[in-house]
Amino acid sequence: MGRRADSGIRTAVHADVPANTVVFSTAFGSNITDVDGNRYVDLAAGFGAMLLGHRHPTHERVMSLQTERLSQALGDVYPSDAKIALCERLSALAAPVLGGKGAQCILGLSGSDAITAALKTAVLATGRSGVIAFEGAYHGLSYGPLSACGLRSSYRVPFAGAENRNVSFASYPVSPEQVTASLRAIEEQLQTGFVGAVLYEPILGRGGCVVPPEGFGAALGELVHAHGALLIADEIWTGLGRSGSMFLSAEQECSADLLCLGKGLGGGLPISACLGSPALMSHWSQEDEVVHTSTFSGSPLAAAGAISCLDVLSRQKLVDRSARIGAWLMDQLQALAEEFPVIREVRGRGLMIGLDLGSASATRLMQSLLVRGYLTTTGGGGREVLIVTPPLVIDESQLEGWLDALRFSLVQFSS
Ligand SMILES: Cc1ncc(COP(=O)(O)O)c(C=O)c1O
Repeated sequence: MGRRADSGIRTAVHADVPANTVVFSTAFGSNITDVDGNRYVDLAAGFGAMLLGHRHPTHERVMSLQTERLSQALGDVYPSDAKIALCERLSALAAPVLGGKGAQCILGLSGSDAITAALKTAVLATGRSGVIAFEGAYHGLSYGPLSACGLRSSYRVPFAGAENRNVSFASYPVSPEQVTASLRAIEEQLQTGFVGAVLYEPILGRGGCVVPPEGFGAALGELVHAHGALLIADEIWTGLGRSGSMFLSAEQECSADLLCLGKGLGGGLPISACLGSPALMSHWSQEDEVVHTSTFSGSPLAAAGAISCLDVLSRQKLVDRSARIGAWLMDQLQALAEEFPVIREVRGRGLMIGLDLGSASATRLMQSLLVRGYLTTTGGGGREVLIVTPPLVIDESQLEGWLDALRFSLVQFSS
């Protein structure tokens, strides 16, 4: 199984992943095939990004039409019609959750780009450079978000000398009892008057699908605003239906000031967005020149891909489907957890689900599933959580097949 990838620099080698890795070559829907012809059911979906599955026919058609029209314009100087259409579309979608007075966006190529734009917006709007982030949270690894990465200090340590020292960390509550302590620690930081932004994942994604207690997001938003800081909702993983909600932060009543989207937005193409109210985004226009841009941000191809992704999500009612299928899958997994105590907890929402194996190796379970033809990933600070983020279009029968395979792996795992 699998051919060794022996060219290129691997920057993300995990100590416990064998060198003999799998190399993918083609995919369709929820299936992905490697260069040796092995076919897998894709429950990883490009780290949660392939909401529509691979090569969705509508998305493919739009991509092909856009390729025939225009694949690059001139950024902020002379934008493409596709980019403008996407900004209008995102604005209409996000305005109701950003105070209802419209929304403006800064497009980027990655989740890291969206977070960087949000952090910069907060500095411009508040004049404060302090940031509060959460332990266990992940916002990307480019220099802006890196300092706010609470997931693993190992990501930050090699670059400690260049870290943004204005970031402090608060604990992400996992039980109602922890909410008060977490909010109190955040309040202490906010009282310094130095904090301009609090970065919040409505569910810790890479952190292991950790769902905060009910009411935490709303209380956090209230606290942050009482101290004149901004709440940045990082919905790069949870947003656009992955968590069974279009915007989970809105459902949690966080009253976010800035909303970051990425991953699934482009239907497989690299594009992200940071959205805020026009009043908030107007702080950018104080400058005499454009002070934040990049060559390919909002490229016509990615913008058209994002519009078609939003169309398909709406037409196929995939947000509701994610909530429905996710609830069913959670029930099945809870039953399995009762049978196999190696599963300490089943967590998540919609089609982002984590199986917490405690100190047991989730990587070993992931590899056992891979051999059985199912692709998953791991998360959590110690990679102790098996993460399942299938395409929102996945067939129930494929999930049933995975549950059978999981049972076989767990029998093997537990013996
Ligand atoms: C919640 C969250 N924010 C930000 C990012 C960074 O996105 P990217 O890898 O596209 O830079 C990720 C990536 O996993 C994420 O899960």
